Amino acid sequence: MTQDALFSYIEEQHSPLPWGRVLDAGTGDHSLRWLLGIPAEEITAVTVDTQRMSGMQPRFSELLRSQDRLVLGDWQDESLLGQEAFDVVLLDYLIGAIDAFTPFFQDRILQRLARHVKDRLYVVGLEPFPSNSPDPAAQGVIDLTRFQDACRLHAGLRPYREYPAAWVERRLHEAGFRVLSTKHFGNVFRASYLQSQARACRQVLATLPSLELRTALLTHLESLESGLLSAAQSPQGIRLSSDYVIIAEK
Ligand SMILES: C[S@@+](CC[C@H](N)C(=O)[O-])C[C@H]1O[C@@H](n2cnc3c(N)ncnc32)[C@H](O)[C@@H]1O
Repeated sequence: MTQDALFSYIEEQHSPLPWGRVLDAGTGDHSLRWLLGIPAEEITAVTVDTQRMSGMQPRFSELLRSQDRLVLGDWQDESLLGQEAFDVVLLDYLIGAIDAFTPFFQDRILQRLARHVKDRLYVVGLEPFPSNSPDPAAQGVIDLTRFQDACRLHAGLRPYREYPAAWVERRLHEAGFRVLSTKHFGNVFRASYLQSQARACRQVLATLPSLELRTALLTHLESLESGLLSAAQSPQGIRLSSDYVIIAEK
C-alpha cells in the first residue's frame, strides 16, 4: 500500500473533526508534505536526526507558514515541547525508527507523547516481516531487508526495528489511550521500492572503510537485486506483510 493511501484513509477517518494544532512526532518529507495539504491551524514537526533536519530545512523553508515549526529534538528529553498540547498527533513510522536513533525507548514513547495529545493519535507502522516465506519473491524482499540491516551494522549504524500493531495497541492501553480502530493495508512491493532500498544500501556501503568487504557486499547486493527485478516489475508486484493505521483517543 502506498503511504498516500494511508494518509487518505486517515483524512477520511478524521472527517468531520477539525485538525487544529497538529504534531508530526517523527517527521519526514512524506508526512510533512501531506500535513501541509490539510487544513491544520499549525504544524509542529519533530525529528531527532540532524541529517534529515538539514536536508528538510531548505526543502520546506518556503512551504512552512509562520505558525509551522520544524524542530530538532529527542523525545527522551523531558523538556521537549514543554506542556504543549495538540489536537492531533501523528506517529508515522516513528516507533520502527526508534531503535536506530534512541534504542530501548520504544516502550516509553507513547507515555512520553501522551501529555501532548489533546484528542486524537494516529499511529502508522509496518508489521514486521516473517523470517521466511514460501513465495520466492517475498523471500527475496525479506533477504534484501536483512542485507540492509547487515550493511547498517557493518557501518556502525543500528537497523530499524518494526513492531506489530498488537504490540502498539498494548502499549497504547498502558499509556492511557483508548484504541478506536486498527486497519491493515496489504503491501505490494514494486521496482521503485527495490531501487530505493538498494540506493540506501549503497549509501551505507560507501562509508565502509574496508574495500574488500565493500566489494563483496556490493556484489551480493547486485545478485539480490537481479533476483527480484522481474517479480518486482510484474503487474502484480511482490506481496508481503502489511502497513497499519491505529486510531486512538485520550
Ligand atoms: C522513518 S522516519 C519517519 C518517516 C516520515 N514520517 C516520512 O514521512 O518520511 C522516523 C522519524 O522518527 C524520528 N525519531 C526517531 N526516534 C526519535 C526520538 N527519540 N525523538 C524524536 N524523533 C525521533 C526520526 O528522526 C525520523 O524523523
